[in-house]
Amino acid sequence: MGKLKIGVIGAGSISEAHLGAYVNNEKVELYAICDLNEQRAKDKAEKFGAKKVYVDYNELMNDPEIDAVSICTWNNTHAEIATAAVNSGKHVLVEKPMTTSVEKALKLEEAVNNSGKKLQVGFVRRYASNTQILKNFIEKDELGDIYFAKATCIRRLGNPGGWFSDVERSGGGPLIDIGVHVIDVLWYLMGRPKVKSISSNTYNKLGNRKNIKNLSFYQAADYDPEKNTVEDMANAMIRFENGASMLVDVSFTLHAKKDEIAVKLYGTKGGAEVEPELAIITEKHDTILNVTPQVDSLTFDFIDGFQNEINHFVDTCLGEKETFSPVQDGVEMTKILCGIYESAEKGKEIYFE
Ligand SMILES: NC(=O)c1ccc[n+]([C@@H]2O[C@H](COP(=O)([O-])OP(=O)(O)OC[C@H]3O[C@@H](n4cnc5c(N)ncnc54)[C@H](O)[C@@H]3O)[C@@H](O)[C@H]2O)c1
Repeated sequence: MGKLKIGVIGAGSISEAHLGAYVNNEKVELYAICDLNEQRAKDKAEKFGAKKVYVDYNELMNDPEIDAVSICTWNNTHAEIATAAVNSGKHVLVEKPMTTSVEKALKLEEAVNNSGKKLQVGFVRRYASNTQILKNFIEKDELGDIYFAKATCIRRLGNPGGWFSDVERSGGGPLIDIGVHVIDVLWYLMGRPKVKSISSNTYNKLGNRKNIKNLSFYQAADYDPEKNTVEDMANAMIRFENGASMLVDVSFTLHAKKDEIAVKLYGTKGGAEVEPELAIITEKHDTILNVTPQVDSLTFDFIDGFQNEINHFVDTCLGEKETFSPVQDGVEMTKILCGIYESAEKGKEIYFE
């Protein structure tokens, strides 16, 4: 059997992680790269050895050689490009967030189901080894019933500017950009309970703090601090139908002493931390134990996580595995993210049917 031919759409920052991982996978031929910015696509094609360059993704869809695509574009374009891809007979790996509205998410799910093609959402932290190690412990019931989770991702200074801070293209700020990772990985480890209600707040108090000097931070490929129409900070209490709850706090800017990431779960038999590093908390013979697994990486390893995600996608396309992050999970996560924005806007708790 020939190699799986891949096209990557969107040749900005995160495409590097996809391209590098495809090149390392011997079942793959990296075939085409597409970007609105032709020079950017050409540069990446040269660097990673892709044969073809496209500016218009519709033309890439008409190329019958391509079996599967990675979508690494602005959030507001994910659903339309993914729909075009599955309708053209191509499997899809779409970056997070899957899309920016529940309506678009449901339409995409329908298109995927009708096409018979595979769609994997780029919830990369699900594929990280620390997550999979803990998942195995949870499946063996080491934590008992998980009833509480905490998802924190605080940047004190880290609004990337450009399209990230233009709500029309991003769909939102830190919640949809970085909050999605910590909320999703917890929801996955909790066994994907159905969301019952959300009470949340978003704040726009500090802006992007472009005045700050002497402290560097992550910036988009096309950095521009002038437009900023996204929240600085969001917090939420999510209730699930099984009685479990999750507390969320995320920011692009906040008067915090330092950046913070925390991904923590609490169950009847034990607790666990995925970030800042893997730990399992339990009780034995009337004594509390903090267990540190002896593994290669206790924390999220970016390179390893992307390689695992891409390898899993390739095997899914080849029919050798089932994806860990299917379209229906993308729909549920879109409901949660949009629910957080809706509750904050209405200033009250919202309920799901
Ligand atoms: N999984 C992760 O950890 C992670 C990290 C960073 C970004 N992301 C996601 O990846 C996506 C891209 O983010 P980025 O940081 O690479 O942004 P970026 O601005 O660096 O790159 C985006 C690229 O997409 C191109 N583009 C936009 N619309 C297009 C279209 N219709 N057709 C072709 N090209 C188009 C732009 O020209 C740009 O080159 C976003 O959805 C983001 O949320 C995921």
